[in-house]
Amino acid sequence: MTTRVNRQWLLVSRPEGRLQPSNFQWAETPVPDLQEGQVLVRTLQLSLDPTNRGWTNATATYLPPIPLGEVMRGIGLGVVEESRHPGFRVGQYVQGLTNWQLYLVSDGRGLAAFDPTPGLPMDAYLGLFGHIGATAYFGLVEVGQAKAGETLAVSGAAGAVGSLVGQIGKIIGCRVVGIAGGPAKCKWLVEELGFDAAIDYKREPVQPRLRVLCRPGIDVAFENVGGDILDAVLANINLRARVVLCGMISQYNEAVPPPGPRYLGNLLVKRARIEGFIVTDYMSRYAEAFAKLGEWYAAGRLKYRADVVEGLEQAPAALNKLFDGTNTGKLIVRVS
Ligand SMILES: NC(=O)c1ccc[n+]([C@@H]2O[C@H](COP(=O)([O-])OP(=O)(O)OC[C@H]3O[C@@H](n4cnc5c(N)ncnc54)[C@H](OP(=O)(O)O)[C@@H]3O)[C@@H](O)[C@H]2O)c1
Repeated sequence: MTTRVNRQWLLVSRPEGRLQPSNFQWAETPVPDLQEGQVLVRTLQLSLDPTNRGWTNATATYLPPIPLGEVMRGIGLGVVEESRHPGFRVGQYVQGLTNWQLYLVSDGRGLAAFDPTPGLPMDAYLGLFGHIGATAYFGLVEVGQAKAGETLAVSGAAGAVGSLVGQIGKIIGCRVVGIAGGPAKCKWLVEELGFDAAIDYKREPVQPRLRVLCRPGIDVAFENVGGDILDAVLANINLRARVVLCGMISQYNEAVPPPGPRYLGNLLVKRARIEGFIVTDYMSRYAEAFAKLGEWYAAGRLKYRADVVEGLEQAPAALNKLFDGTNTGKLIVRVS
């Protein structure tokens, strides 16, 4: 047994509504010695994602539910501290499902090594150059088929994915309208990120504002929210519109999904399509996205923001920032 002590958050009950402190239990246990073929990773940073909430339910999403009593699942990045695995060496940086813990003992499956670029903050590898950047890129370019001259509407626009989607849309040559909560977020979208317009869904009626700002209609909708916002979008689509169903954050805390959408008939009359996707479907092509995103970032055409919370202890409470909108950019926990 090593002298290292692991620090972990275990999922001990299923949440009803938002996550509560009682859904988790803090555990400190010795880290076991490595077996042949295993690698020991110390987590540096943990990505907090809306999908984490879905993983805590008893029903499967695109991954099975986390069994009660197990370490909470989460994407993170870390550094190899010990290795008895031929594919990993000490000091190497890795990304993958490190979970909500300080140390991961792994057989290497699902871990990808990477070489950080000097000068780039580590958190960029959980955002722009991680699953977030890949989601924005493949969702808009491949699923949405966005083209120059088209009108793009993005919900959750000031979030990690949405803020990149809108900027990529501008690079492609779209007219971009974002939907976000609060004047500060809307101001940031227009004044700093170059969106053509932003709708504050907490203060303005979304459907009539989309009708005015997206005239004659929406060609590509990048949907991160669902519910009433998706309805407002569907009411305003153009002929042959593409609705990219990336996320439905407004429903992740609901036990029973609300009825709707009410404007589904518009998909028919506009010969439009709606398509869901999960970014991991594109994993074999991530390098393609990161090359493009890197080129745009280096040219100053893409801005990226991280919201970093200090300490693994904060993870359960911090996850709710995604649901009350108090995160400003990619939500990350600095673990060590
Ligand atoms: N399909 C995939 O492979 C994939 C991959 C990554 C992420 N996603 C999805 O993409 C979406 C964005 O994820 P992210 O990581 O970038 O998170 P994020 O946008 O950085 O954070 C979530 C944001 O959602 C907004 N929000 C929360 N509850 C809402 C509600 N009831 N109505 C309207 N807006 C609400 C809040 O912003 P406001 O202040 O503007 O309300 C909050 O800041 C999520 O739906 C997520 O599940 C999908």
